[in-house]
Amino acid sequence: MAIHEILKMGDPRLLRIAKPVLAFNTPALDELIRDMFETMAAAEGVGLAAPQIGVDLAVVVMGFESNGRYPDAPAVPETILVNPVIEVLGPEEEEDWEGCLSVPGMNGVVPRFSRIRYRGFDAQGQAIDRIAEGFHARVVQHECDHLIGKLYPMRIRDFSRFGYSSSLFPDPATRPRD
Ligand code: NI
Repeated sequence: MAIHEILKMGDPRLLRIAKPVLAFNTPALDELIRDMFETMAAAEGVGLAAPQIGVDLAVVVMGFESNGRYPDAPAVPETILVNPVIEVLGPEEEEDWEGCLSVPGMNGVVPRFSRIRYRGFDAQGQAIDRIAEGFHARVVQHECDHLIGKLYPMRIRDFSRFGYSSSLFPDPATRPRD
C-alpha cells in the first residue's frame, strides 16, 4: 500500500485518454485500487481517478458519507469503477460547486447532467450498473471526466464563480469537498 503524489493541473498526464483495463482480478489491479483509496483518504477526497496518480488506466474510486455543505445529500457508496461508461438520462442539468485534488485550493460552479446511468466493472470484473442523480451523479461525471482528459475548470461556463477556496468559502467547514 502506498500513498501517491497527486498530479496537478498543468501536468500533461492529466490530459490523456485513459486506456481500458484488460485483465481483472489481478494483483496489479488490486494494488492500484488499494493505493487509490489510500491516497484519496489521505487527501480527504470524495473521488479519485487513476490518471491523477499518473496511471494511464480507466479506473476511478469514489466514496462519500456526508459533510456540512451537503447535509442532505445521499451518501455515494464506496465504489470501484473500472472501464466506466456514462449514459445521460435526459437533458436536465444542475449547477453546483466542485473542487478537485488536482486543482488544490480552488472551487468552481460546474453544470452537470442531473440524472445518469453508469456502468462498469469492479476489480473482479463483476458488472456494475446504477442510476444516479444529484451529487452522486456529479461525482461520477467529475471522476469519469478525468479518464478523458477533462478537469472541471474545462466545464465551467461562468468564470465569475471560479476562484480560491479561501476567498469563496472563508469558513473551511462550508468548503465543497474535492
Ligand atoms: Ni478531480
